[in-house]
Amino acid sequence: MDMTIRPRRLRKSETLRKMVRETRMDKSSLIYPLFVKEGENIEEEIPSMEGQYRYSIDRLPYELERLQKAGVDKVMFFGIPDVKDEVGSQAYAEDGIVQKAIREAKKQFPDMYLITDVCMCEYTSHGHCGVLCGHDVENDKTLELLAKTALSHVQAGADMVAPSDMMDGRVAAIRHILDENNYKDTPIMSYAVKYASAFYGPFRDAAGSAPSFGDRKSYQMDFHNRREAIKEALLDVEEGADIIMVKPALSYLDIIREVRDTIDLPVAAYSVSGEYAMVKAGAKLGYIDEERIIGEMAVSTFRAGTDIYLTYFAKEIAKLMDEGR
Ligand code: PBG
Ligand code: ZN
Repeated sequence: MDMTIRPRRLRKSETLRKMVRETRMDKSSLIYPLFVKEGENIEEEIPSMEGQYRYSIDRLPYELERLQKAGVDKVMFFGIPDVKDEVGSQAYAEDGIVQKAIREAKKQFPDMYLITDVCMCEYTSHGHCGVLCGHDVENDKTLELLAKTALSHVQAGADMVAPSDMMDGRVAAIRHILDENNYKDTPIMSYAVKYASAFYGPFRDAAGSAPSFGDRKSYQMDFHNRREAIKEALLDVEEGADIIMVKPALSYLDIIREVRDTIDLPVAAYSVSGEYAMVKAGAKLGYIDEERIIGEMAVSTFRAGTDIYLTYFAKEIAKLMDEGR
């Protein structure tokens, strides 16, 4: 048999396979999303996200310690306030839950990189990502509040802010207020390409942030669209975003690739709550091998072109990396 090209040659052993591997991952690209809430001595499991917890600030250090031990040194905070109102005032309150968490975390873990999600939906009584005019989310009025929120996070010590609201012009508004207040060096990671997705379901349970009427389709993107992803990403580049995020990850690998190939900024992908919940549920039923699925999901996201990976499985992935898998 005269066959000179045999791809199987390089698949012969684990040593060889690892040598020619195309996708290599590194713990420095992992970001862990973390829920903080008011109260004391709280570490409550989120029912639809087994293995994920809401922490009161006094219990937060325990989790940060575990993350640090695992080699995950970046977290993204989500806040669950005690009181919500029409205009989400706790989002930009100086003693808001995220602001307090940041101060405490910075004090105890100066080496941790602290990112905050900037949005209104956890803080508004109606659960929408901005202020309302009738049943509509008012874009331009919301910008002021988002900018105020971002500034208050940075003043509390946040290293980076990540707006997730999908209002038009929010990156410019946030960049402007940060610059004005001499935070010219604080980067913005924009949830630039964020689809209106059923994959956020468990998160909304976790944060109590489901909209009380309607949905988020008038501001988050229609998942039938690909060109629009580039339009959104380019706009945010122009407005001064430093990192462009695509969200969710698993069903959007084509979009991650498209953004990676078009945009000259670091790209982040967020493997969201619904992706996590599906894996957990499937594994619990014994239908899938949890560890291998986690690894395959992570690798496919990096293979699609992401540089940064936000995932509730950050500690598990760090362990897989340690083991060279
Ligand atoms: C806030 C926000 C959401 C997520 C990140 N930031 C929820 C939403 O848009 O409804 C989703 C994260 C997840 O599902 O893990 N706007
Ligand atoms: Zn929101």
